Amino acid sequence: MSSLKGRNFLTLMDFTPDEIRHFIDLAGRFKKMKKDGAAHDGLRGKNIALIFEKTSTRTRCSFEVAAHDLGMQTTYLDNSGSQLGKKESIEDTASVLGRMYDGIEYRGFGQERVETLAKYAKVPTWNGLTDEYHPTQILADMMTVREHFGDEKGKKFVYMGDARFNMGNSLMIGCSKLGLHFTACAPSKYFPNEELVKKCRAWAEESGGSITLTEDTDEAVKNADVIYTDVWVSMGEPAEVWEERIKELTPYKVTMDKMNKANPNAIFMHCLPAFHDHKTTVGKEMGEKFRFEDLEVTDEVFQKYSTVLFDEAENRMHTIKAVMAATLGYEV
Ligand code: CP
Ligand code: NVA
Repeated sequence: MSSLKGRNFLTLMDFTPDEIRHFIDLAGRFKKMKKDGAAHDGLRGKNIALIFEKTSTRTRCSFEVAAHDLGMQTTYLDNSGSQLGKKESIEDTASVLGRMYDGIEYRGFGQERVETLAKYAKVPTWNGLTDEYHPTQILADMMTVREHFGDEKGKKFVYMGDARFNMGNSLMIGCSKLGLHFTACAPSKYFPNEELVKKCRAWAEESGGSITLTEDTDEAVKNADVIYTDVWVSMGEPAEVWEERIKELTPYKVTMDKMNKANPNAIFMHCLPAFHDHKTTVGKEMGEKFRFEDLEVTDEVFQKYSTVLFDEAENRMHTIKAVMAATLGYEV
């Protein structure tokens, strides 16, 4: 395996299956050390910048806690508190940050922004979510599948909903590299783009996995080990698309009926945040407007699998720690 030191973490596509498994193994060791109270602060003296052009709970907290556990200092930059995009180009910002920081996390809009940042900063740059990809989430998801089933390889992993955005794309990449059988289940206009599907099919062939695209929910959930969904409208999309999404994606809502048609020990997963009740502003507004108790997943399913969901959220921190540590040259 080539060294991970100095590498960017932008899409997961340029990592081999062994390298991806290495991140997950390293995350497992960090998780154990954290639970045992064993110090793992080998990156003392380093500094990282965390750029968030979109909001976040899990990703931001994971980067901050992981960095501090590793001994690093962090600087958080958002739209209101920096010049990025408004008074300074991403190229110039990157050139400046690269002189001060050892690594940079970026969450925002188009993938080209994080790619440009990486190119000009010349320090390891980590994608904390763009419209196209959410690669750190995939490591946490695969770690959670492994913890739950003992191994991720060969599992049938079904993604329901808008499969052409960051989560659908990145899960398809991760599953195809690690030998899972990935199914995207949605109306065909929500399938991932053909070029990416083609690449993933080639990786799946090598890893023993497969890629299936279907509109048929019964076919999708049959023999499923994991049923996964994400919000129907992602950050940065206009509010006007809600009505159409609700109409088109409601048949793909994850319900107990769908879970009951999967394997008996199947689990439900979600990157979170989720609209499973009216306890959020958007959930309440959309729920009342379209007369729904929930959106992409019922509250019953969410509650039944809440331990898995919060394990998955916790694993964001351990896997992000592994990504930063490995790319900055610290292994345990
Ligand atoms: N799953 C995830 O990325 O969550 P946040 O948007 O809270 O970071
Ligand atoms: N698809 C979602 C993922 C959130 C973690 C979004 O981009 O808003």
